[in-house]
Formats: sequence, C-alpha cells, structure tokens
Amino acid sequence: MTDQLIIFDTTLRDGEQSPGASMTRDEKLRIARQLERLRVDVIEAGFAASSNGDFEAVKAIANHIKDSTVCSLARANDRDISRAAEALKNAPRARIHTFIATSELHMEKKLRMTRDQVFEQAKQAVRFARNLVGDIEFSPEDGYRSDPDFLCRVLEAVIAEGATTINIPDTVGYAVPELYGEFIRNLRQRVPNSDKAVWSVHCHNDLGMAVANSLAGVKIGGARQIECTINGLGERAGNCSLEEVVMAVKTRKDYFDLTLGIDTSQIVPASRMVSQTTGFVVQPNKAVVGANAFAHASGIHQDGVLKARDTYEIMRAEDVGWSANKIVLGKLSGRNAFKQRLQELGIGLESESEVNAAFARFKDLADRKSEIFDEDIIALASDESVTSEQEHYRLLALSQHSETGERPQASVVFTAGEVEYKASSDGNGPVDASLKAIESRLNTGAELVLYSVNAITSGSTESQGEVTVRLQHGGRVVNGVGADPDIVVASAKAYLAALNKLHAKLERVAAQG
Ligand code: KIV
Ligand code: ZN
Repeated sequence: MTDQLIIFDTTLRDGEQSPGASMTRDEKLRIARQLERLRVDVIEAGFAASSNGDFEAVKAIANHIKDSTVCSLARANDRDISRAAEALKNAPRARIHTFIATSELHMEKKLRMTRDQVFEQAKQAVRFARNLVGDIEFSPEDGYRSDPDFLCRVLEAVIAEGATTINIPDTVGYAVPELYGEFIRNLRQRVPNSDKAVWSVHCHNDLGMAVANSLAGVKIGGARQIECTINGLGERAGNCSLEEVVMAVKTRKDYFDLTLGIDTSQIVPASRMVSQTTGFVVQPNKAVVGANAFAHASGIHQDGVLKARDTYEIMRAEDVGWSANKIVLGKLSGRNAFKQRLQELGIGLESESEVNAAFARFKDLADRKSEIFDEDIIALASDESVTSEQEHYRLLALSQHSETGERPQASVVFTAGEVEYKASSDGNGPVDASLKAIESRLNTGAELVLYSVNAITSGSTESQGEVTVRLQHGGRVVNGVGADPDIVVASAKAYLAALNKLHAKLERVAAQG
C-alpha cells in the first residue's frame, strides 16, 4: 500500500453548504488559487449542476488551476454528470465525484427507492461518468449508517464500472474513531476488487470527532485520501478540518508514517482568506490557526518556551504560516510596490482595473493608518468594491454623532444600482443608527442574526475592524464582511455586502436534498 496521503479539499463545495458561507465565482477562484499554493491534491470546486453560478465557478477554477486536480460533485444521474464534465472540460486534471445515498433511512425516506434501484443507478452513473472523465470518485451518502452487506455489493459494482476512488462519508457525524476505522478496514477486506481504488474518508463534526475519525479511517482502515475543509467549514458543525488533520499527520509522522504534498506554510494564509471571505470567524483557541494557538500566557510556559521552545510547542508557528505582523507598506509606497506585495501574498487580482481599485483603497487606508500589514492588504483585496463588478449596493459616505447622554445619530449615503440615496436615523449606538438609516430607505425586511467585530491585526487600537453581518431573509442566510479603521463604517460596508449577496438571488439544489 502506498504511503502517499491524498488531501482532498472540499471548502468550496461542502464548506460552502454552511448557511451564510456562499461565495461568488471570483471569491471561489481566489480561494482555489490559495488551495493550489497550499498544494492540496484535489480541489472540489463545487456542484456544477446545482446552479448556473456554481457551474461558472467550477468552470473558472478548471480553467485556471494547473497543479491540483479539479473536481465537481454530481448526483448519480446523467444530467448532473454531463454538467460536471462540461464545467471541467478545460481542467488539466479533472475528477467527477458522484454520489447516491445507501442507508435504509435515506433510501426509503429521502430517495423513495429500493436497494436494487439504488444499486443500478450507482452502477449506471459510474459507467456514464467513466466515459467522460478517467478519474471517478463514488460516495455512498450516509455510508457509515448503511448496511455493510449492501454497501459491499454496491462498492464492488462501482469499482468494476471504473470508479477510481471510493469515499465513505459519515454524513451526519455519528461515527467514533475506532468503529469508523474498523468499518473502512472491513469494507476493504470484503470488497473483492478493493485494491483497484483509493479509499477515502469524509467525516462531519457533529460530535466533534471529524478529525479523529478521519485519522482512524487512515490508520486503522487503510484509507489514503482525507476529505476536509479549511477551518473545518461546513454544514452544521462542519467537516474535518484540513489544518488539524494535516498537522497531526505531519507532527506525528513517527506514528502515521505517511507522506503529504502540502506546503504547510500556506495554512494560515488559507485560513485567513476563507474566514475573511465567508465571515466565519476562527475561534481564538482553534488548533493550528486560532490566534492563541501559539500564544503562551502563563509565566511558567513563557519561561519554558524562552529556554527551549519544544518544552511547550510541538509545532513551529512559522511552519504553518504564522509570521510576526510585518509592516509592509506605508503612505509613500507606490503602485508597483503594492502590486508586488499582492503577488507575494498570492493575491491574483484579475484585471488591471481591480489592481487600480485596490491601490486606490490602499492609498485611502494609508492616509488614515500609518502602518499597513499583510492582513490589511488581504482584507483590502477581498473588498467587494475592488473585486466585484456586479456590486449593487455601495457605500459612498457615512457620518455619525454620538455623545454621552444623547441618542446617537447617523447619516449614510449609498447607491443601489444607479440610484443614490441619503438616509438618516437615530439608534441605540452609532452602528445601530447607521444600519437603521440604510434599512429606512431599502426596507429589505432582512433579519440580522449575527453581528461581530474583530481587529484584523492585533495589538493596537489603530487596527482595522473587520465586521461580519449575517442576514436571514426568505429562507436564505448570507454573510457580509466589511473592513475599515472606523468600525461604524466597517459595519455599514458589511451590511451592504450582505444585502448584495441577498440581491444576487442564487438558486441552488441542495447536495444532500
Ligand atoms: O457528507 C456527505 O455525505 C457528502 C457527500 C455528498 C459526499 O458531502
Ligand atoms: Zn459532506
């Protein structure tokens, strides 16, 4: 058995299924480029048949990514599979990932199909896909809760039809490590042609065991592919987290004895990019990528680390891409220096007009903030007004007044399409007043379900505030992110960014629907 462990990243597909995490085509492309720098083996770019937007995103990623395999999800039917193949047609390495549920519960209640019908459909789908693309992954959805006898029958048949990867999802996060590992081992032993495919694990985190289960699937079960997401993003409690599983395999090479292709120094930049794009903030005590992951507060620990860092550190911060905040640019930096820094950070802005827009924002920021850090540049490049030509709502100006003992007032000037609006309101605080002012004009009726502020760079009140706003409307949940040294302005930007996402009415078929 090979000792190469394949890292299959599904941030852009399963991760994006997280309520509010939907991303635009350009955002997805930017993240795909970062995943390529991270050297993940496979990027699951989306679910091409679920919407035109997803089709376009998969296609754009297939057109641009050269080093990683690009994959699209497809239900086990000819239409989905053809759509996936069409979106992937320019990828140097393409994979179709087709799936159908195999647990009694899903077959009976969701699909309303018999075992024999599911068996035939799985076989037929893999046969059809194999005529279009050479690299085919098959997943029996809710595989871990499926009858092993039936599962063996299906898996043997799909491998015979040409499936090259067999992925066993713990769709609802029900597994525990030892049992999941044994489940995979048992399937591999019982399926006669199991050696013709790579076995893969796909674990959800409902009981907080997705990483442990995935590692058990590798160690006990002999799987050689792990499906995971940056920051563990994903539906409900999320998926197996890439940074944790990768660093576990790397740090405990003595135990796992596996080879990885990942450039771990790209982990923290990838984590930041996903968090800034989706508005899903990383908790400070999150392993590897949390702000406190390498911070030592207690005197005893600090003393130990200063004497010999391995007294309390099992990984080096720089190996996962943490660098001390670096002042990179300032007010006097020119466009070329700015452009070069964008390139060094791996931020490929699509066109010269995007670089110009980002540079104008940079100059504006440098006027107000003397030190510009890498994090500021990343936030700036993610700003919708730089990257999105279809931005419908745009903030032009904001003023607010607050004084002890008086009710704060705010005035906001913004555009909606071609129309310019000016609106004023009071509120409990300046943020409340600003958002109420916008709402007083637009009357969107969207419900604010989350509001959070973070400092982009730590250690100074000069830092930019990064605000996340989550809105719910008509059954949809969207996140908007805005950054500015003034958190009231950042809040208004975030609110308008969320409204832009609601405005871009995405219609999508649920992957597990
Ligand atoms: O969790 C799951 O079952 C999935 C499949 C579509 C692979 O994401
Ligand atoms: Zn999943």
